[in-house]
Amino acid sequence: MKNIFLSIFLAALYSSACQNVQKSSDPIKRLLRQMTTKEKIGQMTQLNIGLICKGALYNLDEPLQIDADKLKKAISEYGVGSILNAGNSHGHSISTWHEIITEIDKESRKTNHKIPVLYGIDAIHGANYLMEGTLFPQPLAQAATFNPELIQKVAEITAYETRAMGIPWNFSPVLDVARQPLWSRVFETYGEDPFLASQMGASAIRGYQGEGTEVDNFHVSGCMKHFLAYSFPFTGKDRTSVYVHPIQLREIFLPSFEKAIEEGALSVMINSGDLNGIPVHADKSILTDLLRKELGFTGVAVTDWEDIIKLVDFHHIAKDLKEAVKISINAGIDMSMVPNDYNFSDLLLELVEEGEVPMKRIDEAVFRILDLKKKLGLFDDPLWFQKEDYPLLSSDSFRQVAENVAEESVTLLKNQNQVLPLSKDLRIGVSGNALEKLTLVNGAWSRTWQGVDSQWDDTSKNTLWDALSKKSPKSIKLKESSDAQNVDAIVLFFGEKPSTEKPGDIHSLDVPTSWVKQVKELAKYNKPIILVLSVNRPLIIREMEPYCDAILMSYLISENGTNAIAKTLLGDINPSGILPITYPRHTNSLLPYDHKYTDRLNIDFGMGAFKPQYAFGHGLSYSSFDYKEFTLNNDTFNQKDTLILSYTITNTSDRNAMKTELIFISDLVASVAPAVKRLRAFNKKEIRARDKQTYQFVIPISSLAFVHSDLQKKVEPGEFIVHVGDWSKKIVVY
Ligand code: BGC
Repeated sequence: MKNIFLSIFLAALYSSACQNVQKSSDPIKRLLRQMTTKEKIGQMTQLNIGLICKGALYNLDEPLQIDADKLKKAISEYGVGSILNAGNSHGHSISTWHEIITEIDKESRKTNHKIPVLYGIDAIHGANYLMEGTLFPQPLAQAATFNPELIQKVAEITAYETRAMGIPWNFSPVLDVARQPLWSRVFETYGEDPFLASQMGASAIRGYQGEGTEVDNFHVSGCMKHFLAYSFPFTGKDRTSVYVHPIQLREIFLPSFEKAIEEGALSVMINSGDLNGIPVHADKSILTDLLRKELGFTGVAVTDWEDIIKLVDFHHIAKDLKEAVKISINAGIDMSMVPNDYNFSDLLLELVEEGEVPMKRIDEAVFRILDLKKKLGLFDDPLWFQKEDYPLLSSDSFRQVAENVAEESVTLLKNQNQVLPLSKDLRIGVSGNALEKLTLVNGAWSRTWQGVDSQWDDTSKNTLWDALSKKSPKSIKLKESSDAQNVDAIVLFFGEKPSTEKPGDIHSLDVPTSWVKQVKELAKYNKPIILVLSVNRPLIIREMEPYCDAILMSYLISENGTNAIAKTLLGDINPSGILPITYPRHTNSLLPYDHKYTDRLNIDFGMGAFKPQYAFGHGLSYSSFDYKEFTLNNDTFNQKDTLILSYTITNTSDRNAMKTELIFISDLVASVAPAVKRLRAFNKKEIRARDKQTYQFVIPISSLAFVHSDLQKKVEPGEFIVHVGDWSKKIVVY
C-alpha cells in the first residue's frame, strides 16, 4: 500500500491522464477521437471464439474453421476488440491457430480504422492450448521450487510459444494466495504466502512481458488475476462469497497484485465472486479507488467469463442485464468477457446514449485497450508470426526447463528410516490410479479446460510407470495386493481427478476411501510403502500416513515431470522442493502458517492446537546439514535500517544438494493482533557434497510494516524474533 501522499499524487496523475485523452497528439488518442461510440464499445467487447467459427457454440466443426458471416458480424458490424478461448475447449495445432488469427485479422482490415483484434488465451502452465506446446508443472509445483529465476524462465518460454501461436495476451499469472485449501484452484496459485506469491508473480510478469514498456514478438501481456481475494471463499466453493476485513485484504491478498503492478503488469482480470457482500465486478471502491487511484494501475481491466451477466443471474444485484452493464462499467470495468452474445454491446450503446454511462468512462477504457494493442505491437504488425521464426517451439531445451522445474519441485514429506532413495536393483511393486494416466499428472488447463479427456494426451511422454520401469527394470505392476509378497518395496501413485473452477468444487478434503483401503491392505505385507501424491490441493492423508514409510508430494507435475519423480525415488535427484502451502491434518483445521496466536490455543488453553500434517516450508533432503556461524549485523534497529543475517550451512552428506532457506520474523506485540510469524526472505543455493555455503539475507526493517487500523502500512516499534529453523534471535526496533 502506498502512503497517503503517494495516493494523492497518483490520483492527480490519473485524473489528468483522463483529461489528456481529449487533447493529445498521441496516435492512440487521435484514433480515439475519430471513433464512433459504437466502435468504441466494440473495443470493450470480448467474444468467445465459438461465436466466429463454423458449427454450434460448444460443438464447433473440427478442425476449427472461421465462419465468414459470423466473423463479419463480430468484427465489421460490431467492431469487436478482443476474442478469447480455445474453441471446443481443447487445444489446436499451430497451423489451425495461424489460420484463425489470420482470418480475424483480414476482417479487421476491412473496418473503418483497421484496428487489430487482441486475442487472449489461458496459458496457465505453458502454452496449454497449443498441441505442440510445452507443459510445465502447474504453478503450485513451480512455487515449491522457491526459485523465482526458474519461474521467470517458465514464463519466458510460455510467452514464446504463445506468441508463436499468434496470440499476444495470456490470462496468467494467478496471483490469488491459496488461503482456502478446499478451493478448486489451489494448484493454479503460488501458494499461501503473500511474499512468496509476490516474488513468483513478479517473476512471471517479467518473463511474460520482457523488459521495457513495449512487448516484443517473443513476449506477451500478462494478466494478473483474479482481483481481489478470489481465493478465499468461505465455503471453499469456487466463485462464492469471501468475507475478509480490509486489514487482512491489504495484508494478505493485495501484495502480490501490488508487486505485479510495480513490475509493469499490463492487464488484470476481476474476481467473479462477491467480497464482503459486494460482487467485485460492481465494486467501484475496489476497481477504481483501490486499483487505479491508490495502486496507480493503468492497464486493462477485463471481466471474468460472463461476469456482467452473473450480476443478474447469480449475484442478484441488478434487475436486468442493462442495469448490470451500467453498474460494472461505471465501477471501472474496461472490457467485458461477454463472451457469447452481443447484448453487452447493444446495451452499453443505449446506456451511453441515455447518459447513464459517461463518455469519459468509455474513452478511458478504450484508451487503455488501444494502448495495450499498441504496446503489443499489433498496430505495427498484427501477423508477426508469418515473418518471425520460432525455432525453439516444442524444443528439447524447453522440455528440459520443464524437467528442471519438476526436479526442483518434488517435495519429500516423509522418509522414515531413510527408506528413500530406492536402489535400482530392487523389485519395486507399483500401483495407484495415476500410475499410467498422464491426465492425472497434468491436471486442468492441459490441452483441455478440465484436463480429464485422455484423447488429448501426448503419448510420447512418460507416465510414471514408463519413467520408473525404464530406470528400474525389475519394477512390476501390482495387479492385486497379494502380488506385494514378491516385491522389495511398494510405490503407490495416487492422483486426484483433474478439475478447476466450479467443476472442481468438493465437500471434503479427505482422500478417496479407496486410497486408504489400498494402503492398509498392502501394509499387511510388511514391505516399505512409498506414497506419491498428484493432487490439485492438499488432500487429507492423516489416516494413511502411518502406513507409509515415505511420502512424496508431486503436486501436478505435468507430463514432463514424471521422470523427475522416478529420479527422486531412485536417488538420481536429491529432493529440494519445499511446501508453499501448509499441509492440513484435519479437514476442519485449515489454517495457514501465519495464523494468529489465538489459533494455537487448544481446549486446555495450552498452545498446541495448530498441528498441520506438514508445515509450510517443510521438505526433506537425502542430505543432512549443519548450521553454523550465525551473525546478525545488530540487535537494535531504527525503522530505516536494514537487518543483515548470515550463516553457513555444511552439507554433511556425500550427495550434492539444493537447499532453500526461509527467514521468518515474529512481531511480539502489535496494535493489530500479529501473526505468529511471517516469511520475510528466502534463498536457495546448491551445496555440494561435504562442502558449505554462506547464506546472507538483507531485510529492510521497513518490510516489517503491517496494515494498521487506519489501513496504512507502518512499522510499529517493539520486539521481534528472527527465526531460521531452530535458531532464533530477538531484535528491537525503535
Ligand atoms: C476463469 C479465468 C479464465 C477465463 C478465460 C474463467 O472461467 O475463471 O481464470 O482466464 O475463464 O478462460
